[in-house]
Amino acid sequence: MDLDWENLGFDILPTNGVVRIDYANGQWSDIYVEKETSLNLDMGAQVLHYGQACFEGLKAFKSQSGEISLFRPDMNAKRMISSADRICMQAPPEELFIQACQKAVEINKEFVPPYGTGASLYLRPLLIGTESMFAIRPSSTYTFIIMVSPVGPYYKDGFSPVEALVMENYDRAAPCGTGQSKVAGNYAASLKGAEEAHKKGFPIVLYLDSAKGQYIDEFGTSNFIGITKDNKYITPQSASILQSITNDSLRQLARDMGLEVLRQNIEINNVNIFAEVGACGTAAIITPIASITYQDKKVVFNNGEVGKTLQALYSELQAIQYGDKPDRYGWLVSIC
Ligand SMILES: Cc1ncc(COP(=O)(O)O)c(C=O)c1O
Repeated sequence: MDLDWENLGFDILPTNGVVRIDYANGQWSDIYVEKETSLNLDMGAQVLHYGQACFEGLKAFKSQSGEISLFRPDMNAKRMISSADRICMQAPPEELFIQACQKAVEINKEFVPPYGTGASLYLRPLLIGTESMFAIRPSSTYTFIIMVSPVGPYYKDGFSPVEALVMENYDRAAPCGTGQSKVAGNYAASLKGAEEAHKKGFPIVLYLDSAKGQYIDEFGTSNFIGITKDNKYITPQSASILQSITNDSLRQLARDMGLEVLRQNIEINNVNIFAEVGACGTAAIITPIASITYQDKKVVFNNGEVGKTLQALYSELQAIQYGDKPDRYGWLVSIC
């Protein structure tokens, strides 16, 4: 495949096709492949009017020996089942979800970037309600698709820490709302705040709990992690944040590195306990946070540079993903 592997961004590039499974009459169809990425959808489809949609994001990596593996697809399957349940959708069972991910990579093997480029194949599973209706009730038919695209590494030339702004005008998720679910509506609701922050020069937004505006919830599209000055890994305990698979993996690696790992409420007024702060997620693994601005006050971490603990965690996880270090927790699912 003749692609400029070194300079991939995060665009959707044409590939060999997508995989698709349809749900009707109480059962899922077989997995099938479609070349086209356009959908033939009735204009009355539930997803278009009432937003029955949830999605996932995961990656496939190529090792030095050329082996291709998915990273923890079982976790994405479980999270989609939980997201779907929250908005009354039918989700593919875990095994079917994983088979579909494997198929999506198999038919697009030549789009998995070569080892050493730092790039990977991004998979975007999407589930939508397709029944045509004016009534507000769950759809009885669903379509599940997986699109893929090769994507570049976030940090080609080393980390670039970013400045974060605490969002005070809009909430991300209400208590008992959908913050824990990867449902499409959460992301539409986050656009305005993100745009306003960008205009002020902040590429990333930090949300507080919407009940009290006191505790840190998470960044717009990633979890909050902090390393304290006495070397503890702390991440918020909140019912309104997405259960990040990257955060789960990093917590394990942090424990292995001898750090104490805590999930607890973090008061926004206490962020100065942290020596290092990061935003973690599938896309970048860790985005170092140079500073957090709240009520016009800025707290800077590690002089605005990436700290050694986050750097070490990032390198360790990446080494496992690319097969440079043993997969000691069985996180990789190989593609035949
Ligand atoms: C709101 C939100 N939080 C956290 C994450 C990170 O989750 P993961 O590590 O599973 O990619 C994402 C990305 O999926 C997200 O959209």
